[in-house]
Amino acid sequence: MIGRVTIVSTDTPEFWNGIWADIEDCGPGSDQILADQIEGLTPGRALDIGCGTGSNAIWLAKQGWQVTAVDHSEVAIDKGKRLAAQQGVDVEFVLAAASTYQPQGHYDLITCFYIQMFPTHRATMLANMSKALAPGGTLLFVSHDKSGPPSGWSDEDLLSLTTPEEIVAELGELQIEQAFALNHDAEGCHASHMRDVGANETHEAHESHGSSSTIVRAIRPATSQ
Ligand SMILES: C[S@@+](CC[C@H](N)C(=O)[O-])C[C@H]1O[C@@H](n2cnc3c(N)ncnc32)[C@H](O)[C@@H]1O
Repeated sequence: MIGRVTIVSTDTPEFWNGIWADIEDCGPGSDQILADQIEGLTPGRALDIGCGTGSNAIWLAKQGWQVTAVDHSEVAIDKGKRLAAQQGVDVEFVLAAASTYQPQGHYDLITCFYIQMFPTHRATMLANMSKALAPGGTLLFVSHDKSGPPSGWSDEDLLSLTTPEEIVAELGELQIEQAFALNHDAEGCHASHMRDVGANETHEAHESHGSSSTIVRAIRPATSQ
C-alpha cells in the first residue's frame, strides 16, 4: 500500500479480476497469430492456458476443437462461460492457477497467449504443459517480448517479458518448429517484422518499432509406432 493506492501485481487473480470487470466484450474472434500458426492442423483436444474471457478458446471451438480453457480470474471465467453460451459454443472453462494446474490426459494443441507470468512460475507451467502434449501435438506460446515492451509497465511487470530463447530453453523436451520475436507495426497489425532464432523457418530481420511478441511453436514428435 502506498498512500491510499494498493499496488497489485499483474501475476495475481485480483489484478485480472479488476481488468476483466471493466471489459464487457473481449472482441470478435481469435488472435491472428493463433489463426496463422495453427493453419492446417486437424482439430482434436485443445487446452488454452490463461484464456481470459475466452476469445481464442471460443474461436478454436468454432473451428472444431474440443477445448478446455483455464484462467485464475473468476471474473474472466464467468464472462467466458457467458460468451460461449451466447455464441452456442461448447468450451470447458476451468478456474485454476496455471502454475499448479494439472491437465487431465493429453492434448493435441496447447495454447498460451500473453499470460504475463513471472519466470519461475512460467517455467513450471511450461513443464506441466509439455507433459500434457500428445504425440504429434502442438504447443504455441505467445507473450510480450523483451525487445518491445508495452508502455507504462512497472519494473515488476517487466519481469514477465520473454525472449524466444528463454521459452525454447523452458520447452526442453519438445521439438521447436518456430521461435521468433514479432514486432507489431505502428497500426498494431500482427503481420510485420520477424527475427528468427534458428528454428525451421527463417524470416527477414528489420529494425524494431512498437511492441513485440515472443512466438514459439513446438511439437512432441509422433512416435513411429
Ligand atoms: C493479457 S490476458 C490474455 C488473455 C488471453 N489469453 C488473450 O490473449 O486474450 C492474461 C490472462 O492470463 C491470466 N493469468 C495470468 N497469470 C495466470 C496464472 N498464473 N494462472 C492462470 N491464469 C493466469 C489472467 O487472469 C488473464 O486472464
